[in-house]
Amino acid sequence: MLIDIKDVFKIYNEGYENEVRALNGVSLQIDRGEFVAIVGQSGSGKSTLMNILGCLDIPTYGDYHLDGTDVTELSDRQLSHIRNKQIGFIFQGFNLIPALSAYENVELPLIYQGVRTREREERVMDALERVSLADRCDHRPTEMSGGQQQRVAIARAIATHPPIILADEPTGALDSKTGKHVLQILRQLYLEGTTVILITHDNSIAATAPRMVRIADGSIVEDHAQEVDWL
Ligand SMILES: Nc1ncnc2c1ncn2[C@@H]1O[C@H](COP(=O)(O)OP(=O)(O)O)[C@@H](O)[C@H]1O
Ligand SMILES: [Mg+2]
Repeated sequence: MLIDIKDVFKIYNEGYENEVRALNGVSLQIDRGEFVAIVGQSGSGKSTLMNILGCLDIPTYGDYHLDGTDVTELSDRQLSHIRNKQIGFIFQGFNLIPALSAYENVELPLIYQGVRTREREERVMDALERVSLADRCDHRPTEMSGGQQQRVAIARAIATHPPIILADEPTGALDSKTGKHVLQILRQLYLEGTTVILITHDNSIAATAPRMVRIADGSIVEDHAQEVDWL
């Protein structure tokens, strides 16, 4: 089991008047190589769950084992290490660094990982080629369309070859045609063995994933495999 979450609660401002139970006893198991859509309305707890899945935050209560490691026991430093090794993040707002070129944005996580110059070059260009942006490597985010920026963000997420891709509303800021292109790239990664977790509020996008998990008011209310036309 790659991801094993058991009875996880995330409670903001616990014990205060403004207490929010963003996750209310969530259990979720995801195997290596799955493609899972997590769908729910705004405020249902999707981003909170993503932050926990991605080791950006830890549960208030409950267990999380990632690839056999008990994540709730780790220090911030260890959490950041496990994040760098295991997970490629894609966000709705791209989160690229404006002052850096596409190439430099993709290169950054590889520098953090201590990958040497020569191999870095190879991996950056490889990742940019995979999203059909090798010819734009010198462009800054401001010189690119939203779809191109998101593809740079995907290149950045895959350059470190993470076993897991965690995408929070990756098509949320894109028109439907560019959004489809981004989904196609995620599908291709899945077909090559990457575990893809796609978070969305959009039922029609969730319907295109081989497994769909629905969250409502901090609880999982639906979790099943489904037929998709691209497999
Ligand atoms: N840092 C925080 N402090 C207090 N409440 C929060 C915080 N983050 C999220 N929440 C609340 O937790 C609930 C779930 O939020 P979120 O996980 O962002 O939902 P979604 O991503 O599905 O829109 C919401 O009611 C939200 O207002
Ligand atoms: Mg959200």
